[in-house]
Amino acid sequence: MLVALLRPDGTVEFSNAALEHQLGVSRRSLEGATFSHFLTEPALLQTALAAIQGRECETLRCDASLRRPFSAALPVHMQVSPGPRAGEVVVELWPLEQQARQDREERLTEQAQLTKDLVRNLAHEVKNPLGGIRGAAQLLDMELPDPQWKEYTGVILHEVDRLQSLVDRLLAPHRHPRQLGDVNIHEVCERVRALVLAEHPQGLRIVRDYDASIPEFRGDREELIQALLNIVQNAAQALAGRMAAGEDACIVLRTRVARQVTLGRQRHRLVLQLHVIDNGPGVPEALRERIFYPLVSGRDGGTGLGLTLAHTLVQRHHGRIECDSRPGHTDFCILIPMP
Ligand SMILES: Nc1ncnc2c1ncn2[C@@H]1O[C@H](COP(=O)(O)OP(=O)(O)OP(=O)(O)O)[C@@H](O)[C@H]1O
Ligand SMILES: [Mg+2]
Repeated sequence: MLVALLRPDGTVEFSNAALEHQLGVSRRSLEGATFSHFLTEPALLQTALAAIQGRECETLRCDASLRRPFSAALPVHMQVSPGPRAGEVVVELWPLEQQARQDREERLTEQAQLTKDLVRNLAHEVKNPLGGIRGAAQLLDMELPDPQWKEYTGVILHEVDRLQSLVDRLLAPHRHPRQLGDVNIHEVCERVRALVLAEHPQGLRIVRDYDASIPEFRGDREELIQALLNIVQNAAQALAGRMAAGEDACIVLRTRVARQVTLGRQRHRLVLQLHVIDNGPGVPEALRERIFYPLVSGRDGGTGLGLTLAHTLVQRHHGRIECDSRPGHTDFCILIPMP
């Protein structure tokens, strides 16, 4: 949020760092300046000032546009309210783009949650009769007089087992009890790195780019290993083509801390950022909006559950996963608030 405190004459008495940053000007040059000059429609603010000083209204909200000296205008939502001293006003601005992104994220999370619930309920329904079908097929298999028919019971048993393991994966995140403890994120990274390198002993590089000063935080180590593993495995699978062609196939594990990040509706002082960056072909355009939904896969033999599970596990740590992808550079970032 961008904030300015204006004197009765509309000049800036105080501004916060976010506002200076957005405008690209220093505090010095902002203080004392007439604030309405920074709006594409100065009259809007002048009207608001007069209305509040004349006590015609308590608070005024409208959409406005911030004129930035060094970059394009920034659409904002503006709120003007009385300041601490007579005649002063407080102007608060929310960039609309940020608001829109937050709304979109919330909508997507909500939809993904609905789909997850639906799929989980369905999985329960499918799971129950599977045992019965398997038992009946086994009995039938034993009773069959002609071994030729066993091929058919074999198909039933094989498919039932496949469904069983799918259903087990669908229900998995709600199975194991949580174990909270102090998590060292680099230990998590190292475990996952070793597991994935063991799976791809040749042609894959996994580069560490760690910020060693990141403190431990409370979480479930196994859950975080699982979440990161799913993401790194996807990256390795996306690099299969490069590995086969003998080209450089590289995954970077990068840890950083960010300050003052909003996750959901809450602002956090410190947030862990764990990036998994690969130089593969990128997430297919058609899937981009839906990769976190269950059963969405762009891979032969993929079940489309890896990212759904990772998302659930990260959500349990009050975090989220962001994805930024273009050919040659795909960045999945796990964000988790730290105390
Ligand atoms: N790093 C990546 N690069 C390109 N595409 C990716 C990447 N990560 C994920 N995807 C795409 O997102 C899809 C969904 O991934 P997800 O892990 O949920 O399922 P899956 O890998 O297909 O199957 P599963 O993980 O259940 O075995 C993948 O099939 C793939 O098309
Ligand atoms: Mg996967």
